[in-house]
Amino acid sequence: MTGRGNAWWKKGVIYQISVASFSDSDADGLGDLRGIINNLDYINDGTPHSLGADAIWLTPINASPMLDFGYDVSDYLSINPRFGNMEVFEELLDACHGRGIKVIMDMVLNHTSSEHPWFVESRSSRDNPKRDWYVWRDGRSPGRPPNRWVAVVEGSAWQYDDDTRQFFYHAFLPFQPDLNWRNPEVRAAMFDVIRFWLDKGVDGFRLDLINFLYEDVLLRENPRRFGMRPYDWQEHLYDRSQPESLEAAKELRRITDEYPGRMMMGEVYTDTPEDAVAYLGDGTDALHLSFYLDFAQRKWNAGDFRESVEWLEGHLPPAGWPCYYLNNHDLPRTYTRLGRGGDAEARAKVAAAMTLTLRGTPIIYYGEEIGMPMSRIPRKMMDDPIGKKFWPIPVGRDGSRTPMQWSGEKNAGFSQGEPWLPVDSSYVERNMALQDRDPASLLNWYRRLIWTRGKKPALQCGNYRALGGTPKGVYAYVRERGEERIAVMLNFVSRERSLAVPRDERGGSTWRILLSTHGEEGAEIDASLITLQPLQALVLEGI
Ligand code: NOJ
Ligand code: MG
Repeated sequence: MTGRGNAWWKKGVIYQISVASFSDSDADGLGDLRGIINNLDYINDGTPHSLGADAIWLTPINASPMLDFGYDVSDYLSINPRFGNMEVFEELLDACHGRGIKVIMDMVLNHTSSEHPWFVESRSSRDNPKRDWYVWRDGRSPGRPPNRWVAVVEGSAWQYDDDTRQFFYHAFLPFQPDLNWRNPEVRAAMFDVIRFWLDKGVDGFRLDLINFLYEDVLLRENPRRFGMRPYDWQEHLYDRSQPESLEAAKELRRITDEYPGRMMMGEVYTDTPEDAVAYLGDGTDALHLSFYLDFAQRKWNAGDFRESVEWLEGHLPPAGWPCYYLNNHDLPRTYTRLGRGGDAEARAKVAAAMTLTLRGTPIIYYGEEIGMPMSRIPRKMMDDPIGKKFWPIPVGRDGSRTPMQWSGEKNAGFSQGEPWLPVDSSYVERNMALQDRDPASLLNWYRRLIWTRGKKPALQCGNYRALGGTPKGVYAYVRERGEERIAVMLNFVSRERSLAVPRDERGGSTWRILLSTHGEEGAEIDASLITLQPLQALVLEGI
């Protein structure tokens, strides 16, 4: 069968690479595109000895002063010289395509770097032709910003410009001025950027802050509310998720659809998951995938994760498709966060089994597959603007961005030079090379999960049904496509748990163990009474 049901972005596994942290080929301490090329065998060499990812998502690689990990672009049409150049990027693209690996680029459409020539021009005078490319306004009165909107990070979202005596708007940090998407020239310029990369052959985009493109034209004040941090003291009715931003996502979809096989996944930054789902449109006319932060924020609890999944399953548009991740470059790594109560390794295996067998596209963050921990970065070594400014609360995001732990050698095999962020000290006993040789390692568990998924259409695109009547601490579900029926049982607690596949789900069939954290793969099992070992993940196939 061909067509939408089998689209690569639905059935495949996406591997997110923080380019600066993956592999450094030229000993300057910073990861680069050549470093990725050198490690494509690790990502997918076409055999189950490799991870088997179907696509890589690269954090921003456009030219940038790198004040925010590249999310501050100074030229959308060129490659950051610290990562490589256009030739190397094309080489990477070809090498990936030669292996059937898709390449997804991170696109920052909401704001540019303040060093982008557009902004340099825009701030140069009030009558510069690019003035209106950004959101400039007069203050309410001298020294007072146009309204009380706050930036995601801190303080007023308005920055005063002494020379031209107006304020510009920045939803994130002051060096990331928001583009004015109401200006048709801006829209045309950004759509050209998208076409440029599609023409070059990239397979998709990860769209940064896609629900932030537009702000209320009247700059209406947000209602106040209670919350943890100043950004949460306002209900963001007017500075995010405006209807025009969804329209822009739809326009971007129309452009992407002109190129067969391409996709867009979007970061909808919100605390209301309804918002994130809205960016899927009817499931065919807006984003292909929308990030579901709720899942990534759950505690180590079977019922909690089940609740999160059921919510999404219940709220997607009929043609919509879920997407799950537990880690990324902004979040604390789950090996540490979910492993806090002990049994981190066993929990990581259960979490991996869940992420890779649910109905939805899984995104794995580099290093997750070897259980890289959340690193403690000394304050003076920090790079993240949030960490630098606010440490210790929050600690910042650098702890999830430390160099990939390839081996026990110098700098964990990441670089011959001094790494831009310190390597986590765990690399000596926790690294790719060691886990590669150990059949029971987390890495080999990820590989088996991914390759099994690749062989089973039910796991890739089958439907999902949670099993009822499961004991506390167990999350179990069935995935089904055609004749193929797979049951997944996840024991979140460190005690034995017994359960049965309900009679009407058994289909009179015998079940065989496809994957298990506790051995016996290939053995047949009596589905009327299954005993799960503490923290066991079990994947069964009806035969
Ligand atoms: C979301 C990105 O994931 C984050 O890393 C970045 O700092 C902000 N958007 C601003 O672009
Ligand atoms: Mg905006």
